[in-house]
Amino acid sequence: MMTMGGLAAKAEEGVEVLHWWTSGGEAAALDVLKKDLESKGISWTDMPVAGGGGTEAMTVLRARVTAGNAPTAVQMLGFDILDWAKEGALGNLDEVAAAEGWDKVIPTALQQFSKYDGHWIAAPVNVHSTNWVWINKAALDAAGGKEPANWDELVALLDKFKEQGLTPVAHGGQAWQDATIFDAVVLSFGNDFYKKAFIDLDAETLGGAQMKEAFDRMAKLRSYVDDNFSGRDWNLASAMVIEGKAGLQFMGDWAKGEFIKAGKKPGADFVCMRFPGTQGSVTFNSDQFAMFKVADDKVPAQLKMASAIESPVFQSAFNVVKGSAPARTDVPDTDFDDCGKKAIKDLAEANTNGSLYGSMAHGHANPASVKNAIYDVVTRHFNGELTSEEAVTELAAAVEAAK
Ligand code: BGC
Repeated sequence: MMTMGGLAAKAEEGVEVLHWWTSGGEAAALDVLKKDLESKGISWTDMPVAGGGGTEAMTVLRARVTAGNAPTAVQMLGFDILDWAKEGALGNLDEVAAAEGWDKVIPTALQQFSKYDGHWIAAPVNVHSTNWVWINKAALDAAGGKEPANWDELVALLDKFKEQGLTPVAHGGQAWQDATIFDAVVLSFGNDFYKKAFIDLDAETLGGAQMKEAFDRMAKLRSYVDDNFSGRDWNLASAMVIEGKAGLQFMGDWAKGEFIKAGKKPGADFVCMRFPGTQGSVTFNSDQFAMFKVADDKVPAQLKMASAIESPVFQSAFNVVKGSAPARTDVPDTDFDDCGKKAIKDLAEANTNGSLYGSMAHGHANPASVKNAIYDVVTRHFNGELTSEEAVTELAAAVEAAK
């Protein structure tokens, strides 16, 4: 910016940010961050890469870094952050983290992915979780109004949606979306089962009888999606529930961002609940901004961005719009709606009770190699290419080969 009288301009501070927040609700949340930085004199260069779950964004990132042109900050999930850190590609946020006491307020479950070798490398923005169901309230009322408490009640509800002439399950056939449902289905068989399968990668659990049952349930759910599900983006599936064309969607709480953006209110227009059988447990994923190594003159803006993200006021404002819980434990839930309050409470309780697990589908249980191996089997089974018997055998083998 030139100053009056033509004096030499001070170089403008700016950040270039790569992310996959391109749906209506996501863009509204991103705008909170952009405006916050702009109010601090930091300009924003946007690098959006559409594709829920970030698969495409990670491909574009690889190309950028290979070309020696890393963005300042990149939206990233769990193990991907650690993989980049291992490659030595990330910067260092220790100075701002120490000055602001991040160690004390950011849950350790998140710090596991924000730190590498004892150094802060990423700034967590939020905590999402995947074991949610988003139900159209009018459709639920017409079906008797009772939230399904277990698998049988869920199936009965889906049958009633069908009788109402609705698409029972709004879903988009993309590998990450299939895997998001699988997170919840596996968790509904209990914490131990989820842990043994996805955290411990125990071959017997992955290839066992209960896993076959989990795949059978996936096949049952598949029977409730519409004919046009293939390739549909997740937010278009949310729109089907919002518009009353579908009964419900199984999706992480970023879906709430779509309902809110459409002016819908929890309790009145839609109902949020944990996937039947998973109450008390949480499969989480946290969006973090991994900070890349950039030229020295770009570091101050990078540190300011990290600091802005961790401000409690920003954490509240952003996550209210995004549908997630704050990434700090000291942010009041005052401004959050009932689903947001529940997300914050569930998270704290699950953390205390030892029933908080990283989401397999969203990169918080395993590195990308294992995650992609699981995606592949889950998707082929969901699309009818594998029986449940074949799926368990393939799952155990694919994970073993990938780990
Ligand atoms: C991210 C969310 C995002 C969702 C859909 C998840 O992996 O954590 O922030 O809204 O993908 O794109």
